[in-house]
Amino acid sequence: MCGIVAYFGKKPAQPILIEGLKRLEYRGYDSAGIALLKNGRFDIYKTPGRISNLEDILPPEDLQATVGIGHTRWATHGEPNTVNAHPHLDDTGKIVLVHNGIIENYASLKKWLIKEGCQFRSQTDTEVVANLIGYFYEKNCARDGQNAPKDRNRFEWAVQEALTEVHGTYGLAIMCLDCPNVMIGVKKGSPLILGVGENEYVIASDAAAIIEHTSQAVYLSDNEMVFVTEGGFETKTVTNIEVRKELSEIEISLDQIELEGFDHYMQKEIAEQPQVLETCLNGRVDVKNGRVILGGIQNQFRILARTKRVIMAACGTAWHAGLVGEFLFEQLARIPTEVEYASEFRYRNPILEEGTIFIAISQSGETADTLAAVEQAKERGATVLGIVNVVGSTIARTTDAGVYLRVGPEIGVASTKAFTAQVAVLAMLAIELGRRRHLGADAAQYLLRELMQIPQKVRRIMAQSDHIRRIAQANIDRENWLFLGRGLNYPVALEGALKLKEISYIHAEGLPAAEMKHGPIALITDRMPAVFIATKCSHYEKIIGNIEEVRARGGKTIIIATEGDDHIRQYADHLITVPDTVEQLQPMLTVVPLQMLAYHAAVVRGHDVDKPRNLAKSVTVE
Ligand code: M6R
Repeated sequence: MCGIVAYFGKKPAQPILIEGLKRLEYRGYDSAGIALLKNGRFDIYKTPGRISNLEDILPPEDLQATVGIGHTRWATHGEPNTVNAHPHLDDTGKIVLVHNGIIENYASLKKWLIKEGCQFRSQTDTEVVANLIGYFYEKNCARDGQNAPKDRNRFEWAVQEALTEVHGTYGLAIMCLDCPNVMIGVKKGSPLILGVGENEYVIASDAAAIIEHTSQAVYLSDNEMVFVTEGGFETKTVTNIEVRKELSEIEISLDQIELEGFDHYMQKEIAEQPQVLETCLNGRVDVKNGRVILGGIQNQFRILARTKRVIMAACGTAWHAGLVGEFLFEQLARIPTEVEYASEFRYRNPILEEGTIFIAISQSGETADTLAAVEQAKERGATVLGIVNVVGSTIARTTDAGVYLRVGPEIGVASTKAFTAQVAVLAMLAIELGRRRHLGADAAQYLLRELMQIPQKVRRIMAQSDHIRRIAQANIDRENWLFLGRGLNYPVALEGALKLKEISYIHAEGLPAAEMKHGPIALITDRMPAVFIATKCSHYEKIIGNIEEVRARGGKTIIIATEGDDHIRQYADHLITVPDTVEQLQPMLTVVPLQMLAYHAAVVRGHDVDKPRNLAKSVTVE
């Protein structure tokens, strides 16, 4: 949520910032801006809308500047207009910064700064930070005498003093006009990475903006600052204690973040699922012995297998994966499991008995609500594990141990490949835990053999893309949809509805199919498509009954069924099939046509699939 990129080096900063912002645009795209430091002044360009709008207003002569900061915004405070776009200058014009996060006490700080004589131009919380730093900077200068050299220490102190006053979350990249040879990055609760190249540095919210320049990075922890100068970089805490940080290798490659011939990232990421699921499973599944090896948590399996209770917390699509996980943990491992909305978890004063295992599920590893739940669980003494995609992300580093999804960067705002991999990891965990409790070797071998077949079965579903597009086209003028499933396919119904909502702007609800008759059936007309997930499973007969109920009321049905199920055809206005598999693993197949349906519906409606209205990929504010 909001993307930051800053460059300090010897090359022209402007194209590097623009390129970086394009790579971060999925984090927010309400407005964008850059500030370039050149000839003793800041040149600032800002505009509402996309990075392409920003490019349109950039003059070519700014290719001279070799230092600058940039931002792509997802608005929290103040509408997305030019004034509210970042970078923000302080009142004196000496401090300029870009910010990702939320300053919770901005209103009281603003009031105080106004009393001190500061003037504000925007409605943002960010401008308060710029003014606060400016205020302390001027105070330090005044104390040392106006003729004292404008050295880096004053800038550094001002940032530290300002941040002690600030409550909230921030990733900041800051420049000071008096200290052109230093750039400061600082973080708390929002991600910030320093890319370390040869005589050049890139500070960014995520690795996608860095990888083109260097694969060496320093992942800042909360309350850490980095000082970048021509001579190198230094890291310390905001309380001025030096910290030594190791350089890490960024694990993503450039081709993973390119479209590679696809029209949209979502389309690419749906299509990648067979291959990334193979990567997720390979080397982790030992079919012969009916066992699973998950390096990151191998040492935790013993504790996990003895636990009396598992709590999972996640948001959005990851929460839906958690619901599948709950079912798998209870059915295969017989461990009582609950799934919580991460955003609600801490407000319930949750009870975590001794020995509770807490599992956070997050693609980005940066979701603020999930991170807050992790912190709450840690405070209460739980062992905290993570199922995360982004290597080195905050949740990955905050949890006690974890499993990576290994699906590569997910850039489309609508999560697709992360969901199927989250379910794959949860299935592996449930099978191994079951094996360590009371699941027989034969059953585990059978399940794992089926699990290894999932990638190629997903591949088979892809062939129905045109058929699914025609179904989307035929129903495109319908503004309300229902998605219905039972058991393990109920979370898939929720996920299908979420996908359609977020990129097509069609109102959709996911429901347990049997709940329909308790109220929502009143909505059924021939104008409301009802998507049923009615594969061959233990609820098959029952869900056919639910389909009949809808059809009896003139409802139109789109049915996701098992390949070769001819009986179900008579109930379907539109039929989509998926290969057969064991019931516990079906969500990894049944979700795929729903992803494709949402994708095609959004394309047919002419929406920007990868940048849906009002959304951003990584929700780093609570
Ligand atoms: O990065 P995370 O998995 O923690 O993100 C959680 C949700 O914000 C995310 O799944 C969101 O719901 C997606 N836009 C759904 O497609």
